[in-house]
Amino acid sequence: MSRVTLSRYLIEQTRSHNTPADLRFLIEVVARACKEISHAVSKGALGGVLGSMGTENVQGEVQKKLDVISNEILLEANEWGGHLAGMASEEMDNAYQIPGKYPKGAYLLVFDPLDGSSNIDVNVSVGTIFSVLRCPDRNGAEGDLGEEAFLQPGTEQVAAGYAIYGPQTMLMLTLGDGVMGFTLDREMGSFVLTHDNIRVPESTAEFAINMSNQRHWEAPVQRYVSELLAGKEGPLGKNYNMRWIASMVADVHRILTRGGLFMYPRDAREPEKPGKLRLMYEANPMSMLIEQAGGAATNGSQRILDIQPTSLHQRVAVFLGSKEEVERVTAYHQN
Ligand code: AHG
Ligand code: MN
Ligand code: MN
Repeated sequence: MSRVTLSRYLIEQTRSHNTPADLRFLIEVVARACKEISHAVSKGALGGVLGSMGTENVQGEVQKKLDVISNEILLEANEWGGHLAGMASEEMDNAYQIPGKYPKGAYLLVFDPLDGSSNIDVNVSVGTIFSVLRCPDRNGAEGDLGEEAFLQPGTEQVAAGYAIYGPQTMLMLTLGDGVMGFTLDREMGSFVLTHDNIRVPESTAEFAINMSNQRHWEAPVQRYVSELLAGKEGPLGKNYNMRWIASMVADVHRILTRGGLFMYPRDAREPEKPGKLRLMYEANPMSMLIEQAGGAATNGSQRILDIQPTSLHQRVAVFLGSKEEVERVTAYHQN
C-alpha cells in the first residue's frame, strides 16, 4: 500500500476540493517549521534549549527558551514565501509585519508556537497550535497591518491544526472537511497520513481539569465536577476517570483519540479575565478541530467559534470534547 504523505494529501485536496495552491503551500511551510521545532525540542539539554529566557510575554508569563526559539522558527519559515499578509503569536505583543522585501499573500497565520511550556523541562509532551484566516480586503491600504484584520470569529478559519511533540511527533490538521492525523517519519523526514477522518466519541467517562483551582470556580462548574466525582452513586450514574497533562495539545490529542472532556473555566482569581486560555491561539483552532471531528466546544454560554474577538490576546473559558458532556456542562451554565 502506498503511503500518503502530507504533501500528497494536500495536492489531492487541491484537486478535489479546490483548496487554493497558496493555502497548500502555507500548510507545507508550517509543517516544515514544526519538524524543525520537533528537532529542537527533542535535543533537550543536549541542545542547550531548556530553561527560561528571563523575559516575559504580553500575558506576563515567563518565556522559556523554546517558546522564543519556536516563535522564531515559525516567523522565519513563513515570512518570505508570499502566502501571508501577516502573523500573530501568543509570544508577540503586536501583529507581525511581513518584511517589505518579501511579497505578501492572502492569508493570516496565528499561532501558539509552543503550548505546554511548563512541561518542557520535565520531558512531557508539548506542541504548536496554529490557525489560518483570510486577510480582509484592505481596499488598497498600504502600511502596517493592524490587529483588527485578525479579529475574526473562529468560523472564519480556513484551516487549523497542531503539531504534538510526544513519543511520536504528529500533525493534526483540518481544512474544514474532517480531521486528518499525520505521523512524522523521522528517517524519511515526512509526515505520513496515519489517522484518517478522526472522530471524537459522543459519550465519554474521562475529564480533564486543573482541580487545584476548584475553590475559584463558578457554581455551574462546581456542580458539574462534583457530579463527575460522585461517580456511579451520583446523579450521572457512572464512574469517571480524570487526566490533566497541563499541555492543551496533549489533552486535546487524547480527546481526539479516545474521547473526553477538557475544561479550563473562568475563575475568581482574575475576574477581569474570562479564563486562562487564549481565544485566537488556542481555543479557536482546537474548537475547529474538535467540531470537525464531531465534538463540541463552548465557553459555557456560547459556541467558541461564534465569539467575535475584540483583541488579539483575548482569553476565554473553554469546555471542549465529547458532545454529550460539553452539552451537559453548558446547560448547567444556562440554569
Ligand atoms: P502555554 O504553555 O502556551 O502558555 O499554555 C499552557 C496552557 C495549556 O497548554 C494548558 O492546558 C494550561 O495552560 C495549563 O494550565 P495550568 O498550569 O493552570 O494547569
Ligand atoms: Mn498554550
Ligand atoms: Mn505557548
